Amino acid sequence: MATKTTETKTPGTGTQETKIPESSTMPTSEKKMQVDNAVVNKNEMKNSSLHKFFVSSLKDIYFAENAIIDALTKMEEAATTEELKEAFEDHQLQTKKHVSRLEKVFRLIDEKPEKKECEAIKGIIKEGEEIIKSTEEGSMTRDAALIIAAQKVEHYEIATYGGLAQLAITMGHDKVADLLETTLQEEEDTDYNLTEIAETFINFDAEQED
Ligand SMILES: [Fe+2]
Ligand SMILES: [Fe+2]
Repeated sequence: MATKTTETKTPGTGTQETKIPESSTMPTSEKKMQVDNAVVNKNEMKNSSLHKFFVSSLKDIYFAENAIIDALTKMEEAATTEELKEAFEDHQLQTKKHVSRLEKVFRLIDEKPEKKECEAIKGIIKEGEEIIKSTEEGSMTRDAALIIAAQKVEHYEIATYGGLAQLAITMGHDKVADLLETTLQEEEDTDYNLTEIAETFINFDAEQED
């Protein structure tokens, strides 16, 4: 009985092995391409409404994260207590990581990192600036109010990353989903830490102020 092999006879070249491409080395061609863990038709993927929405949302949050880096500098300078200054400083370092994680996400789906102006985050940041203007320097009321302003930023990010991570899973972008979920976790932890700081002493001290 003849043994089945993966060899084929090609005229003029003798015996040649039939190569089955491994997914990790799949070449990027006009039609099929490897995007994250999914092998997709490039044109089909890029033209789909969901993909366009996904990329547009990534550009929105990429703009937001960059704007938050600057906002956190102002909030740290304005904060009264060392605890809150430190919390803002720590989260600014994390936010810089969020920016580079997003750049990695863009690379994974073969898109360019671009910023799309986000009116929502501009409004939330503006609210924080107004809090700084309308509260007394060195007061605990300012810190209590700044915590709420910062939590509004976190909640915007949590909604965005939570939704985009789920979409990434649906579209088969597993590595992208992991990156977005890592950032999501850090935003949730920050939100939790801010609540802790407020409840430990800042809200109480603010309540004692005239
Ligand atoms: Fe962030
Ligand atoms: Fe954040």
